[in-house]
Amino acid sequence: MVAIDGPSGAGKSTIARLLAQRLGFAYLDTGAMYRAITWHFLENGVAPAECAGDPDGGRERMQKALAAAGLQIDAGRILLNGRDVTSHLRTREVESQVSAVSALPFVRARMRDLQRQVAAHGPVVAEGRDMGSVVFPRARWKVYLDAAPAERARRRCQDFARQGRAVSEQDVLEEILVRDRLDSTRSDGPLKQAEDSLYVDTTGMTTGDVVERLLRLVRGDHGDHDDHDDRAEEAR
Ligand code: DC
Repeated sequence: MVAIDGPSGAGKSTIARLLAQRLGFAYLDTGAMYRAITWHFLENGVAPAECAGDPDGGRERMQKALAAAGLQIDAGRILLNGRDVTSHLRTREVESQVSAVSALPFVRARMRDLQRQVAAHGPVVAEGRDMGSVVFPRARWKVYLDAAPAERARRRCQDFARQGRAVSEQDVLEEILVRDRLDSTRSDGPLKQAEDSLYVDTTGMTTGDVVERLLRLVRGDHGDHDDHDDRAEEAR
C-alpha cells in the first residue's frame, strides 16, 4: 500500500496513476468515490444544499440515497448502480457540494469500508485526504503531496482547459482555498499530514520528477535503510 494524501491540485491523481502503472499496483482515486456519491445525491435531489431546510439537515434522505447507491470501481472507471458516471464527476455542481458531502460521517464510514475492501485485493496506490492518517494507518509508504495555492490553481485551470472549460485562475484559487479550509477543519477524517509520511512540495517540480522521487522511496526501501532518512532529506 502506498498512501498519498494532500490538498486539491497538488498533483495527487496524476502522480498516483503514473506511480501505480510503474509499480504494477492498482490505483484507487478516493476523491472520485466522494464525487460519485455527491453526483448521486444531486441526481436524487438530496445534496446538502437541497436538504438545508429539512429538520434533520437531510440526514435521513441522504442515508436512504446512500444505502441505494451501489458503487463499483472498475479499472479506473466509477460505476453507480451499473452506470458509468466517470465523466460526470468533475462538474462544478459536483465540486460545489463535494466538501459538504465528504464531511458527513455516515458517508465517510461507507467510503472507508469500500476503500479497505478494494485494498484487500492486492497492492494499491491510494490517494485522497485521509489515506495515511485514517483509512490505511499501517500503509507501508505514506506520502503527503503539497504545492503552493497559486500553482494548484494554475494546474486545476489547465485541467479545466483540457475539458474545454475556460475558468479564471482567481476564481479557482478562491474555490481551492474554501475547499482546503472545509477539508482540513471537518471533524471526521480531516485533511492532515500523517506524522510518518514523506512531505513533498511539488511546486516547480515536473510530474516526472515527483514520480521518480516516489519510485525511489518505494523501490529503495529494502528494509536496510530507514524511511525517516528520506523524510529528513526531504525536510532539508
Ligand atoms: O481529490 P478530489 O478533488 O477529487 O476530492 C474531492 C473531494 O472529496 C474533496 O473536496 C475532498 C474529498 N475527499 C475526502 O474527503 N477524502 C478523501 N479520501 C478523498 C477526497
